[in-house]
Amino acid sequence: MNSSPSDLAQASERAHALRQQLHHHAHRYYVLDAPEIPDATYDQMFAELQALEQRFASLRVPDSPTQRVGGPPLSEFASVRHAVPMLSIRTETDTTAEGALAFDARVRRELGWGEAPVEYVAELKFDGLAINLRYEAGTLVQAATRGDGELGEDVTQNIRTIGQIPLRIEGACSWPVLEVRGEVYIRRDDFEALNERQRLKIAQGARGEKTFVNPRNAAAGAVRQLDPAIAAQRPLSFFAYGIGAVQASAQAHLPQTHLQWLELLRSWGLPVAEQTRLALGAQELLAFYRQIGTQRDALPFDIDGVVYKVNRLDLQQQLGFVTREPRWAVAHKYPAQEQLTEVLGIDVQVGRTGKLTPVAKLAPVFVGGVTVTNATLHNEDEARRKDVRVGDTVVVRRAGDVIPEVVSVLIDRRKSASAVFSMPIHCPVCGSLAEREEGETDHRCTGGLFCPAQRKQALLHYAQRRAVEIEGLGDKLVDQLVDAGLIRHLPDLYRLGLSALAGLDRMGEKSACNLLAALEKSKQTTLARFIYGLGIRHVGEATAKELARHFGRLDDLMQASSEQLLEVADVGPVVARSIHTFFAQPHNREVVEQLRALGVHWPEGQPAATLGLPLSGKTLVITGILPSLDREQAKSCIEAAGGKVAGSVSRKTDYLLAGAEAGSKLSRALELGIPVIDEARLMEMINGRA
Ligand code: IVH
Repeated sequence: MNSSPSDLAQASERAHALRQQLHHHAHRYYVLDAPEIPDATYDQMFAELQALEQRFASLRVPDSPTQRVGGPPLSEFASVRHAVPMLSIRTETDTTAEGALAFDARVRRELGWGEAPVEYVAELKFDGLAINLRYEAGTLVQAATRGDGELGEDVTQNIRTIGQIPLRIEGACSWPVLEVRGEVYIRRDDFEALNERQRLKIAQGARGEKTFVNPRNAAAGAVRQLDPAIAAQRPLSFFAYGIGAVQASAQAHLPQTHLQWLELLRSWGLPVAEQTRLALGAQELLAFYRQIGTQRDALPFDIDGVVYKVNRLDLQQQLGFVTREPRWAVAHKYPAQEQLTEVLGIDVQVGRTGKLTPVAKLAPVFVGGVTVTNATLHNEDEARRKDVRVGDTVVVRRAGDVIPEVVSVLIDRRKSASAVFSMPIHCPVCGSLAEREEGETDHRCTGGLFCPAQRKQALLHYAQRRAVEIEGLGDKLVDQLVDAGLIRHLPDLYRLGLSALAGLDRMGEKSACNLLAALEKSKQTTLARFIYGLGIRHVGEATAKELARHFGRLDDLMQASSEQLLEVADVGPVVARSIHTFFAQPHNREVVEQLRALGVHWPEGQPAATLGLPLSGKTLVITGILPSLDREQAKSCIEAAGGKVAGSVSRKTDYLLAGAEAGSKLSRALELGIPVIDEARLMEMINGRA
């Protein structure tokens, strides 16, 4: 392709910018162990620079990060020149399972093998850092990091602290030189424990301590720790995956394949991952990739892919290298589980149970194999802890089938003064009060019956057998009714007609009739079932029964204060508050009224507490001046005896308690033939001498 000079000028400018950024991030990552961006973002920038340099050879300057694999050795450690360079592996660009086929096709082409299947070793690609262990006459004499592949750092003191690494290999004591290569890493559980300890130190005011971003950075930090005593406290592990320089004893029978090497190392006490296996041909590589992919999240340590290696060493030799990468091996990664993206907004979603969840709306990003546009922030505390704000650049993670999550915010990239997130006071769906109960992490909408988000849940709850029981109204039908717009709120159930129902999918006239009959039947219920059916938070079946027994009448329950509710057996402050808030929502009261108006009824009884008392079920009206009691005292006496005091005389009045100067109430009572009593008579009645 011909390129114009302006193309080159543009590419040069871009390459310069990329190099600067990559240098910065490589330093953060390799030297400081404090990366600011996910690996995948770094890889993308790196790949873009590589592509530019490929296109314009003049851009490939010696100090480009593409020309130096790995980070620079730290000046504090002695430099080590590797006897055999530590190569890197080419990464298969195709991150679908078919990447395995592409690698196999290349190998067979380069070997000129046609269709004959090649034997491979399939391994895990550990996410730690590469180490070369040098044994002389069977004794560990040096351990070095990879560095740039030629020069590494001497970290022997730190590596010697890893229990899994033998300090002496008896089987190799007659070998002048044996170099074992592998990965130092930290297990996930060890990592969690390490960070927990770090948090404790920070909480205790220790200076210069920090928590680690991920196991790999913690491992890298430990290996490069200048004080081996501190390194020894870091829980490092090791897996061997290859060899470096070898000078075997004259008698030694050297392995002919890669797997034989690994088995020899394993027999000498070096840890080799149990997942390592032979794979014959491309299909078995593919199967390995898929199988490990499903197990990945359950492994006790992080991997970022798998590695395929041609098993026969003679074939490895025949295939050779391109630049610093062997043609006989490839790393096949899984789609990155972390990516950077921008927060476009923070929505609050309401779940079926009324739970409010803050959700970050993201600029679409491909992560963990899918395009992600939403990530949960779980609850108010989590959102505050991470301090996610609109406009922020964030790290999103999606591992396995887990819902996408915001891992962290890049505070440095926050542009302007943005507002701290706070939960709304009202449900964003129905406008009812949203509350967070003491000791709970979640906010909940209190508009249970009215809130569209909780509609289906509310209907199913109401219709279940132990509640009001509407036979045949299960979740499929509820879905249909709500989705078709036939039902918005509970009372709509009792407004359903035959024609509307018959229009539904898989609903014949017969089943429609059955449902209508079930609805009709459900109208006759009990107070306990009805209360339970309302789905008030914390009010289970037993509490509903207790409430029904205690209050006897729904209106009394609806009007009860928190204090009065507390008098009910089994009702504590949390339940009392929940009931009180429920009935304080005008929407909920409206729904109850409508249900009653539509014919839902139950036998209303006497409040349990007042049953059997002298004035149980009696309503009295007080008028005039009593000889010894004032109004309030008289009222208390009557209520204590189970009676009720009303303000005006009606046919429902049982007695008129009259004192001196009684007026219109007295004449009205006489008119209606209602018995009139005085204070003395009241006392007789109360004391049971009636
Ligand atoms: S073999 C010639 N095998 O991946 C091949 N490397 O770029 C030399 N890695 O940082 C490496 N797991 O530490 C090999 N099973 C495995 C590996 C592995 C992880 C790392 C290695 C290096 C990078 C290679």
